[in-house]
Amino acid sequence: MTSDTTAAPSPHHPETVTWVHHWTDRLFSFKITRPASFRFRSGEFVMIGLPGETKPIMRAYSIASPCFTEELEFLSIKVPGGPLTSKLQLIEVGDTILLGRKPTGTLVLDAVKAGRRLFLIGTGTGLAPFLSIPRDPEAYERFEQLVVTHTVRDIEELAYRSLWENEIFDDELVGDQARKQLTYYPTVTRAPFHRPGRITARIESGAFFQDLGMPAHGFDPELDRVMLCGSMAMNKDVAAILEGYGLRKGSNNEPREYVLERAFVG
Ligand code: A2P
Repeated sequence: MTSDTTAAPSPHHPETVTWVHHWTDRLFSFKITRPASFRFRSGEFVMIGLPGETKPIMRAYSIASPCFTEELEFLSIKVPGGPLTSKLQLIEVGDTILLGRKPTGTLVLDAVKAGRRLFLIGTGTGLAPFLSIPRDPEAYERFEQLVVTHTVRDIEELAYRSLWENEIFDDELVGDQARKQLTYYPTVTRAPFHRPGRITARIESGAFFQDLGMPAHGFDPELDRVMLCGSMAMNKDVAAILEGYGLRKGSNNEPREYVLERAFVG
C-alpha cells in the first residue's frame, strides 16, 4: 500500500493583516504580508478571501501597492450584507487573509502603447490600481505626464487625498518625478467642492482640459493613453467619450490607446 504524500498545493496563500485603516463607513484599506514567491505587475488584481469557510468566498481586488513593495495594500468598499465585505471590514491586524496565486489584469503599462500623457481615471474604489502605477518609477519613465482622477460622492470618500497632495512628493523612489510629472484631479458629485461633477461631465464640457492646461480639442490619440476603473456604467460612458476622440481599447496582447477594468463592487 502506498500513501499519497503529494497533496495538491493550496490555491491560496494564507497571509497576515499588518495594517487596517477605515476612511469612512463605506470605505477601508488594509495591508497584508507578501509571500516571497508572489510576483505581479503594478496595476494588476488578485483574488482575496477569508479563511474558515469550506469553500472560501474570493473576490477580485486590485493591488494598490506598486510591484516591488514588501506588503500588499488593498482598498475596499463595505457593502452591508455583502458576502465578503460584510466580514472583511471587521479584520484586524494579525488576522489571516487568503491571497490568490495568480495576479492578472489589463490596467498595466504594457497594455497601452507608448505615449506622452497617461490618464488614470477612477471612481470610488476604482482608484485602487491607480494607487499602484504612480508609485512605480516605470510610469514616469514611460510617460512625461501622469494625471490621476478620482471621482466620489462625498469629500470624505477622497481616500488617499493626502498621499496625492503631500506624501507622494516625499517618496524615496518617485517623489522627484511626481513633483514634476504627476497631477491629482479629484472631483465630487454630491457635496460642494471646488471641482464638482462627474469626470464624464467635466471632460464633455471641456473644463477638464482647461483645468489641466491642455489643448481645447481634448484627447489626442497620438499622445494620450487612458486607464479606466469604475462601475460598468462609468467605464462604458468614459469609453464612449474616448472612442469619440479616436482612442481604441487595448489589451495585454494588443496594446492600444486605452484599457479598462471594472472596480470591485461587493
Ligand atoms: P454620482 O454621484 O453622480 O452617481 P459610487 O459611489 O456609486 O461607486 O460612485 C462613485 C462616483 O462615480 C460617484 O461620484 C458617481 O457620481 C460617479 N459615477 C457613477 N456613475 C457614473 C458614470 N456612468 N459616469 C461617470 N461617473 C459616474
